[in-house]
Amino acid sequence: MNVHDSEKISGILGREGYCAAGSPRDSDLIILNTCSIRHKAEQKFFSRLGRIKALKKKNPNLRIAVAGCIAQQKANEILRRAPYVDFVFGPQNIHLLGELLGGAARVANDENPLIAEMDLPVSRKSGGRAWVSIMYGCNNFCSYCIVPYTRGRERSRPLSNILREITELAREGYKEVTLLGQNVNSYRSDVSFEELLRSVNDIHGIERIRFVTSHPRDLSASLIDAISSLDKVCEHFHLPLQSGSTRILGLMNRGYSYDEYRWKIDKLRDSVAGISITTDIITGFPGERDDDHRLTVEALKSLGYDGIFAFKFSPREGTEASRFDAQVPNTLKSERISEILEVQDNITLKLNKGLEGSVQEVLVEGSDETNGKMLNGRTRSNKVVNFRGISPAGSILSVRIIRARKHSLDGEML
Ligand code: 5AD
Ligand code: SF4
Repeated sequence: MNVHDSEKISGILGREGYCAAGSPRDSDLIILNTCSIRHKAEQKFFSRLGRIKALKKKNPNLRIAVAGCIAQQKANEILRRAPYVDFVFGPQNIHLLGELLGGAARVANDENPLIAEMDLPVSRKSGGRAWVSIMYGCNNFCSYCIVPYTRGRERSRPLSNILREITELAREGYKEVTLLGQNVNSYRSDVSFEELLRSVNDIHGIERIRFVTSHPRDLSASLIDAISSLDKVCEHFHLPLQSGSTRILGLMNRGYSYDEYRWKIDKLRDSVAGISITTDIITGFPGERDDDHRLTVEALKSLGYDGIFAFKFSPREGTEASRFDAQVPNTLKSERISEILEVQDNITLKLNKGLEGSVQEVLVEGSDETNGKMLNGRTRSNKVVNFRGISPAGSILSVRIIRARKHSLDGEML
């Protein structure tokens, strides 16, 4: 979401007549697009901001701006700690960038109820594949999560705007789109998410459709049926579990039990042959005991994910869980996450080994910078494949998998 916001920021800058500089040192404008999902991202931002200060001494024309979720939540703190920052704007106010550059204000972080109707120019750098916003904000208030506070209420983008953008992308040669939203399953404009998928599936030139992120509570049987019947929707599903313990899921305010989640995974596997499934896990949520952690490890073993993103719980100011008693000490979080990652690495490698010898359809994303003859791309199941060859980004090739690794596959072009 944040990276796609950067593409919109670049899009507006392009429209305003700016072009990309070779390095921060040569820039007259630096915008840091920040993320506040976990504390580490925030720490990195403040240290980066400190280092940029020196550039302003060398180039008095340099302007520095801060965008993103930290700008949304901590505008005043940023301006106090770094008075050399010229302006800050949150993720709901990217459309104001032109005016902010003209000196209209120093802070733009109001809630923007019209965000879903505003189509901003997008400057994409990714080859062959494109992100497309379909909804903004989130109403779920999972107890650990900052997003509903920074991105505001859930709003769906009108169908016609989405289809117009994707049709244009197809005309420009894009083959794959990833529909973006915090909770795509609750997309609702004049049509439902299933109907949106059907319409995108009909767009000539688009070969692959993905979407993130789904919420297990809102994943319905009818959506699973739609996915299995639409040929362009890829056989990959990212479905964040967060914890294998129903007790912890309750404290997280996730709105489903482990058994309900498990039922949906079974249904997905029954309906879509060869589907790959990935997830997000938070470890060390307040009150998580050893038996809860064991349930998460058992869930990983029994659900057999193709890959996971695991995070140590990070208390975010303003969220419910940051105020919970029984915060888990960091050493315990570290132990638990190490175990989780080790268990999962073995599962991923085993599943990837099962692909050795198979022929996969790969969409080329780019070539290795240091070795122009090595291409990389993704299978429909979202696995990264590296192989020798020359072909432009966006081409779709047949590749035989010759070696499985933990986080990628080696292949040979057929
Ligand atoms: N601490 C740790 N991980 C978090 N996530 C969201 N908020 C937090 C937090 N406070 C993780 C969740 C979510 C992913 C995008 O980031 O797993 O699915
Ligand atoms: Fe955060 Fe939960 Fe909304 Fe995802 S669904 S953005 S985890 S509040």
